[in-house]
Amino acid sequence: MAITGLFLVLFLLMHMFGNLKVFMGAEAYDHYAEWLKQDVLYPFLPHGWFIWIFRACVVLALVLHIYCALKVWQAAIRGRGSKQGKKYTRTNRPERTFSSKLMRWGGITLGTLLLFHILMFTTKTITFGAFGQEAGPYQMFTSTFTSEHWYVYALYVVFMLAVCFHVRHGFYSAFTTLGANVSPKARGILNGLAYFVATLVFVGFVLPPTASVLGLL
Ligand code: HEM
Repeated sequence: MAITGLFLVLFLLMHMFGNLKVFMGAEAYDHYAEWLKQDVLYPFLPHGWFIWIFRACVVLALVLHIYCALKVWQAAIRGRGSKQGKKYTRTNRPERTFSSKLMRWGGITLGTLLLFHILMFTTKTITFGAFGQEAGPYQMFTSTFTSEHWYVYALYVVFMLAVCFHVRHGFYSAFTTLGANVSPKARGILNGLAYFVATLVFVGFVLPPTASVLGLL
């Protein structure tokens, strides 16, 4: 869970910085999207190969991450069923943070909204605003996030809140699993870093759609 989770956080940070390019205008944003789809690592890889290798890695990481989550969930249910488990849950369990309580249902919300997001922007099966299959990413972005479609914007804020809470707890847990949580000082640093990354992801992702809805793009 830790390794696939950290890989997905890296993907999120890349995607977030990529989206911020929308502030540089249509040409820069569309050019960046085209480069991502066609030219990354060219000529070491032929045109258009990188995106498919990268997509395969993201899908593999997601599948493994969900598989591990289901295993952990199953183990927790089994543990709770035993006498020992009940005793542990009721008396010895440390205080849980809000984001840790949200991991399972937050993860399911995030996954559902991610599916919706891909149907909107990658396959263009569900669209808001007037643009065709051939529309560039900038046009797609600015026609989707408008004051007329405020509900799409609101849904994206919920999506980003789910991402932000998941990343806060996930980042902290991943480094704990990997053995970094060795002292109260290390715990403090990990916690601070987890809040920083989660806030960065939330603000970085929400800024471009907010600017678009306010008509600033
Ligand atoms: C406000 C937040 C977000 C916006 C505005 C946004 C925007 C976009 C856009 C415009 C594309 C299509 C790019 C293109 O085909 O040229 C895209 C693709 C994608 N986004 Fe997002 N995104 C956001 C958040 C997220 C988050 C939080 C995740 C993951 C949890 C995510 C995962 C993906 C994936 C997996 C793709 C498909 C990439 C591909 O086709 O290879 N996005 N996003």
